[in-house]
Amino acid sequence: MTNNYLQAAVEIAREAGNVLREELQRPPDIAYKGDFDLVTQADRRSEAVIVSRLQQYFPDHAVAAEEGTGKDTDSEFRWHVDPLDGTTNFAHGYPCFCVSMALAQNNELLAGVIYNPVYDELFTAARGEGSMFNGKQIHCSRIAALKNSLLCTGFPNHKRHEHPNIFYYWDFTLRSHGVRRDGSAALDLAYVACGRFDGFWEFGLNPWDTAAGVLIVQEAGGKITDLQGRPYVLGGKSILASNGLIHQEMEQLAADIAKRDSPPI
Ligand code: IPD
Ligand code: CA
Ligand code: CA
Repeated sequence: MTNNYLQAAVEIAREAGNVLREELQRPPDIAYKGDFDLVTQADRRSEAVIVSRLQQYFPDHAVAAEEGTGKDTDSEFRWHVDPLDGTTNFAHGYPCFCVSMALAQNNELLAGVIYNPVYDELFTAARGEGSMFNGKQIHCSRIAALKNSLLCTGFPNHKRHEHPNIFYYWDFTLRSHGVRRDGSAALDLAYVACGRFDGFWEFGLNPWDTAAGVLIVQEAGGKITDLQGRPYVLGGKSILASNGLIHQEMEQLAADIAKRDSPPI
């Protein structure tokens, strides 16, 4: 059954990806949600495709979609949908954005899809069945020390100046091969799953940003917690994702930074 859900999600994510590719050809139509948070016609059109297809295929399921057009039901099944993760990149024509969709049953993630339509890169996972990248099984990297790792993180759109992540960025940069800041949390997680990155952390992400990526990392053999090593809850204050091997070192460094520079988040 999970595979049927996954197949449907792949079909829908590809359809939404076509919309994003098409929208990329037009001058961006940018509006603001609050002072800094961009939203474009592409976010809305992609979400419309996803929500209508999900309703057609799974009329009873609840859909939590970022732009607010999903619907709540009392179903145990809930889709977490980010119709365009990386809107700021999209609006600037930087080709690092994706569609991210995951299905949870009573809060347990069953299936996840992350699709970058520019590079036609599709990451998928079904619980218990591993993770795939364009149809081939993937695993997290085997890098065993932080000093040899390539990491990634992100910064919130709101109140970036008040945010302590810059302290984490500084320290992790000095203690690794580097920290990338690519602007799509879902792709960051997918890249941890396939070994392009060895670790990722961020604060304040929403369930639609992380749900698919969490399952894809876990099914690729990686580890997901919060930055303090506690179980990660969707929508929790922080997330730490890694290949498992450098998790403890990342957790320890995060604890040292929190103690020294900022209150723990
Ligand atoms: C954003 C991206 C970014 C992260 C932001 C998110 P959006 O999602 O995932 O990497 O740093 O916190 O809000 O707004 O492009 O869907
Ligand atoms: Ca997002
Ligand atoms: Ca989004």
